[in-house]
Amino acid sequence: MASDAAAVPQNASITSEPASKRRKLQGREFYEAIGSPRTVVAPMVEQSELAWRLLSRRHSPENTLCYTPMFHSRLFATTSVYRQQSFQPPHLDGAPADRPVFVQFCSNDPEDLLGAAKEVEAHCDAVDLNLGCPQGIARKGHYGAFLQEDWGLIHSLIRRLHDNLSIPVTAKIRILETKERSLEYAKMVVDAGAQVLTVHGRTRDQKGHNTGLADWGYIKYIRDHLPKGVVMFANGNILWHEDVERCLAATGVDGVMSAEGNLYNPAIFETSKDWDKRFPRMDKIGREYLDIIRHEILPHLPLKELLEQEPSKRSRKKLNEVFKDANLTAIKSHLFKLWHSLLPRHKEVRNMVGQASTRHMGPGGDPLREYEECQKRVEQIIAEELERNPEEVDADGKWVGPDREITDADESQETEGFVVEIDGNKFRRIVPWYRCQPYFRPLPEKALAIGAMTAKGEKTVEGGKRKAVESSDVAEAEVKKVKVQEAEKA
Ligand SMILES: Cc1cc2nc3c(=O)[nH]c(=O)nc-3n(C[C@H](O)[C@H](O)[C@H](O)COP(=O)(O)O)c2cc1C
Repeated sequence: MASDAAAVPQNASITSEPASKRRKLQGREFYEAIGSPRTVVAPMVEQSELAWRLLSRRHSPENTLCYTPMFHSRLFATTSVYRQQSFQPPHLDGAPADRPVFVQFCSNDPEDLLGAAKEVEAHCDAVDLNLGCPQGIARKGHYGAFLQEDWGLIHSLIRRLHDNLSIPVTAKIRILETKERSLEYAKMVVDAGAQVLTVHGRTRDQKGHNTGLADWGYIKYIRDHLPKGVVMFANGNILWHEDVERCLAATGVDGVMSAEGNLYNPAIFETSKDWDKRFPRMDKIGREYLDIIRHEILPHLPLKELLEQEPSKRSRKKLNEVFKDANLTAIKSHLFKLWHSLLPRHKEVRNMVGQASTRHMGPGGDPLREYEECQKRVEQIIAEELERNPEEVDADGKWVGPDREITDADESQETEGFVVEIDGNKFRRIVPWYRCQPYFRPLPEKALAIGAMTAKGEKTVEGGKRKAVESSDVAEAEVKKVKVQEAEKA
């Protein structure tokens, strides 16, 4: 890889800054000031918006850190509508209930990035630079993981924020092809001024069905060779709650970030011993999520005022802008993921969610009307299931949980569920389908074998149909949306 390390300014050291310019907290001091979070909800395009962050925080340790989705720095700096739809301080995004929060941007222009960061610096704890997006559109737009070849540019992006923002700048990178190269890269990013470094243990080519496993060995190598004062988060392979401690122990980092694991089970970071809290029922979590949108988000959107106007006088453009609010556009895809293991059993619900839209408000003017119908159907299905097959409970009436200790006899016979190791003992974990649980993306060889991927990496198919919402699809969709908005602007 032809990384241009030579383009990095020679005097690029954090410590070379005059002390008078460094009144803001840095590194570990900054990390401690935001509560030393060990659990981190990842930046996710169209998926880590405010409503989702509020839901995730309710089911995570108190000091859990959340990242916003990635925003496009130029659009954010220059387009108020885009800004309004993405991040609305002070009552919604960045409000006390939404802290600590890092706002993430993609950029290839230090001025754009600074302009965007200035818009949010009073309403978040840090601004993060996305250096990990591997999508084709990021290649074309020259940002995310496609800046990896341009270390000089990366350095100037981070340094511009480090020098000019009142809050810290942080960065999220992918690993490169060798441990040594990844370390050099990490050092450059830290040297430029990043106060927290998140390392996703996959390379740029590991995406879609070629995602495979993240390599914690690379993350540990980087951790071991960076000064202890550098705060680091590890990202990748967090599917169960137990993986958090495993990852912390294996890598030595300060915190662990989860993306997909969080989307399929927003209680993935739950530390309670109550199994019901760790694997919430999808009817209950769906209810809570829709209630957050109804009670915490909708009252702050100008929808009611618009609907009260005479239909002939109502601005369709303004109404359209409200429907594109990040908290509303994400609902469908969140419900697809939350209810993932229910949908193949109840295809009618899959169709209902697929067709539901916030724009179909009905005479009552309720944007959640159709999603409420889906929710009611899910509640009914689960109530009927529990009526037929009540869950096993202990003496206190609590669900006994999904784990059964593995004995020699059943180890060879049972194939259902997943083997998990807790305190040196092995358990077989079988989570009932009506509880939130991780989605196991097939590993590349398996994906090829089941036809989910072709040798050329063509479209993903499942049962003859394209899979509902894959992460890369969502990211791609968002970037397309950005492109359309850019075109509209031009
Ligand atoms: C739906 C979705 C959207 C994502 N969007 C972003 C993003 O906006 N910025 C970013 O840095 N990474 C993004 N990612 C990558 C994740 O932050 C994370 O690095 C990756 O999914 C690996 O973590 P995981 O194994 O816990 O899923 C996205 C991932 C998913 C699943």
